[in-house]
Amino acid sequence: MTATARRAVGQPLQRVEGPDKVTGAAKYAAEYQVDGDLAYAWVVQSPVARGRLADVQVDPLLDVIAVLWHGNALPLEDSDDPELAVLQSDRISYRGQAVALVVARSLEAARRGAQELSLTIEKEPHDAVLRTDDPDLYTPDVVNPSFPSETSAGDVSVEAPVAVDVTYTTPALHNNPMEPHATTALWSGDDLILYDSNQHPAGVAATVGALFGLEPDQVHVVTEHVGGGFGSKGTARPNAVLAAMAAKVTGHPVKLALPRRALFSMVGHRTPTIQRVRLGATADGVLQVIDHEAYSQSSRLFEFAEQTAVATRHMYAAPNRRTGHRLARLDMPTPRWMRAPGEAPGMVALECAMDELAVALDMDPIELRVRNEPTVDPDSGKPFTSRHYVECLRQGAARFGWEDRDLRPRQRREGDWWIGTGVAGATYPTMAQPSTARVRDLGTQEFEVAIAAADLGTGARTILTQIAADELGVPVERVRLRIGDSTLPPASVAGGSSGSASWGWAVTGACRALRETGKSEAVFDSSELIAEQEKEGKHAFGAHFAEVRVDAVTGEVRVSRLFGMYACGRILNPRTARSQFLGGMVMGMGMALHEEGVLDPAMGDWVNHDLAEYHIPAHADVESVEAEWLDEQDTSLNPMGSKGIGEIGIVGSPAAILNAIWHATGVRVRDLPARLDKIL
Ligand code: MOS
Repeated sequence: MTATARRAVGQPLQRVEGPDKVTGAAKYAAEYQVDGDLAYAWVVQSPVARGRLADVQVDPLLDVIAVLWHGNALPLEDSDDPELAVLQSDRISYRGQAVALVVARSLEAARRGAQELSLTIEKEPHDAVLRTDDPDLYTPDVVNPSFPSETSAGDVSVEAPVAVDVTYTTPALHNNPMEPHATTALWSGDDLILYDSNQHPAGVAATVGALFGLEPDQVHVVTEHVGGGFGSKGTARPNAVLAAMAAKVTGHPVKLALPRRALFSMVGHRTPTIQRVRLGATADGVLQVIDHEAYSQSSRLFEFAEQTAVATRHMYAAPNRRTGHRLARLDMPTPRWMRAPGEAPGMVALECAMDELAVALDMDPIELRVRNEPTVDPDSGKPFTSRHYVECLRQGAARFGWEDRDLRPRQRREGDWWIGTGVAGATYPTMAQPSTARVRDLGTQEFEVAIAAADLGTGARTILTQIAADELGVPVERVRLRIGDSTLPPASVAGGSSGSASWGWAVTGACRALRETGKSEAVFDSSELIAEQEKEGKHAFGAHFAEVRVDAVTGEVRVSRLFGMYACGRILNPRTARSQFLGGMVMGMGMALHEEGVLDPAMGDWVNHDLAEYHIPAHADVESVEAEWLDEQDTSLNPMGSKGIGEIGIVGSPAAILNAIWHATGVRVRDLPARLDKIL
């Protein structure tokens, strides 16, 4: 493929489904008008954190079609996700767990029925608090997805001339996609059709189908448009199973749209963490010790072991290194993926600790990082296929304006505002997963490209259209892209920042095969090529810069500027890429300043269950946020030369803001979020 043949990739093409979205023509899972007598479902959630549901009494005067609970629910086949065994047992494992489902002819009647239900519950004592002295803490065999829990090299007990030993805590964070989880379910004979909001239509079809004992070709999942997911829609959630069961039992098509408050317990969240980081260096800033221990939690139902300290393994060179994970199983909902699971909280601790070390050394924090740049991946000992971290730091600093920065805190004041700047590194692994694509010459100068991918609003449809157009040698207008349907050729999950690489690889293969064979249809499965690929040494890097001002009277923090400089391989579409980077950085701002699941240990639950009390950055919080990237060439990744970009924006941006708060005020906040009461 010559350079001139590439026309569409690299262009800021607008989202191909944009007009459908802004005119309301694009349909989301809860918006399908299905044939039949549609019924509505409302989930009844457990009011206690642990116990058993002994009985459910239904007022016979209630205007409902059915009330499902474990006493009358349809038995399901076993699943490797115990949270999908909905209504199968009398056990209550967390507050907010679905213990019953009310089905009625209107949403209002279903909700009313749920409010009027009498539950007889035997309550048991619970434990909802993550703490480092919990005797039941243990070291999981592996952390997600399959990394060793512990790594070590050298001896981290050696004394270094300059050292920091700091503990950072991050709270539970909650996925809040604009479109809450929703499913419309109907049965056609023994076949199941789900309109479901998720990140992996084929995965949801397989999982839900297995629960109901169905063959793969008996389930059809439609996921045409998705209003965000952030990981919480990566696998089937209980709403899909409940809707399918209710439709089966009642004979009605059933719509189940979770209210936003249910998201805080039913779809997964980011685990709280407690992280101890010990760094030691020579007086001139050469790292001797990196020791990162992370504590996180999972539920009684399921071991979800977040890879909090894994990013630390790849960042800096040092002769003595250790990372480890400790897990507590609590009477709480199971944590799940949330944008950069592991990397985002882990890099808060590492990159803030690096800032603290730079202060202890009286050294510029960028110089400290540059001085400890590894020549090979410290974890695997193998070279990185491309790593332009130092370039991101240096060029980012030049672009942001880092020169002449005073190393000391509390030096700049304008009126009531203390002003400071901070930096932090970012990284995210570069992955690709097997997928299959099909392309057809429609004989009308148009080509249909089909793959069961999902577009969460990120621009997946658009970049796949661009990739296909270039490979077929036609303008983008000639490409008809079909995604969002489990019956299309199988695709991997829209997660792990791997969608573009995985699906783009399959689309490239199919388009090339069509051209080479001259046939009217070609199918390409990337499994073999991906299996042969070297997985290690592939990471995206970036540097985040923040300028904050902190009100000397009130402690209010404003982020005046947030800037990310990235090295993420070839950027396929600068418009959608920029949007991903900025979204990640703004979400990082939420992590640094606003977002917090506030735990009530007595109740065993977070007390804030809506966007009035769970704070996220609003438009007025975001002043200047910018992203730029290096033109990174890496031919060893995939046919596009791309690295994933969906998650790296939230890795490092919180630490840059926290480091800037220290620089502005001299106050080191180690307990996120940095609310004003912690700064004053
Ligand atoms: Mo993302 S947390 O990999 O969906």
